[in-house]
Amino acid sequence: MDKLAAYYAKRAAEYERIYAKPERQADLRTLEARIRKMFTGRKVLELACGTGYWTDIFAAQAAQVTALDMNEEVLEIARSKKNAGKVRFLRGSAYEIPDLGRVHDALLAGHWWSHVPLDRLDAFLESATRAVAPGALMAFFDNRYVDGSSTPVSRRDAQGNSYQARTLDDGSAHEVLKNFPGEGELIRCASRHGWGANVELLPHYWLLTWWAPK
Ligand SMILES: C[S@@+](CC[C@H](N)C(=O)[O-])C[C@H]1O[C@@H](n2cnc3c(N)ncnc32)[C@H](O)[C@@H]1O
Repeated sequence: MDKLAAYYAKRAAEYERIYAKPERQADLRTLEARIRKMFTGRKVLELACGTGYWTDIFAAQAAQVTALDMNEEVLEIARSKKNAGKVRFLRGSAYEIPDLGRVHDALLAGHWWSHVPLDRLDAFLESATRAVAPGALMAFFDNRYVDGSSTPVSRRDAQGNSYQARTLDDGSAHEVLKNFPGEGELIRCASRHGWGANVELLPHYWLLTWWAPK
């Protein structure tokens, strides 16, 4: 298992604390409303679903939900959520999405784009669009860097990826790749993998949507 997956396995029980940060509450309510509405009536494939915080928000209104994550530790929490009965949870990598028959007409990944190394992003997006139905709705949201709220960037590598030094409750230290793409970069990237790219910028989050090629 790679470093990132191992870090999130260890963090599973403390993960949802990020959703209690007071300064992010207004944005979270806005994002939750967007996500709920966007996936109403849709067959959604969610990648890197984690503890199912977002899965639980849209599952009740969605037509069908498949949610994938690399770690059993987070999937166990996701399976305990209110609307979990509606969801098919799968353990697997977002970089090797299983063949699900391209039945999903929407794809979601929250807080995942930022962890994809820049030199893997295009290959990842290409395989993600091929995992869902032609013309599917693609949606990604993630953190914007906010001084005083975000963990500071500790280092940048030669490819332009940024990293944060994070500590878990057990005292273990982890260097985590976490990128903060700008609006133009998001639009350019999405436009290489479909059409109609749109970014909504909230103070703490960005939300990117587009349509997969037909
Ligand atoms: C930042 S969390 C996001 C969780 C959830 N989407 C959310 O927004 O609350 C990143 C998730 O990616 C998962 N993960 C790490 N590497 C992965 C991989 N290669 N494929 C799928 N999931 C992976 C971790 O287990 C973790 O649950």
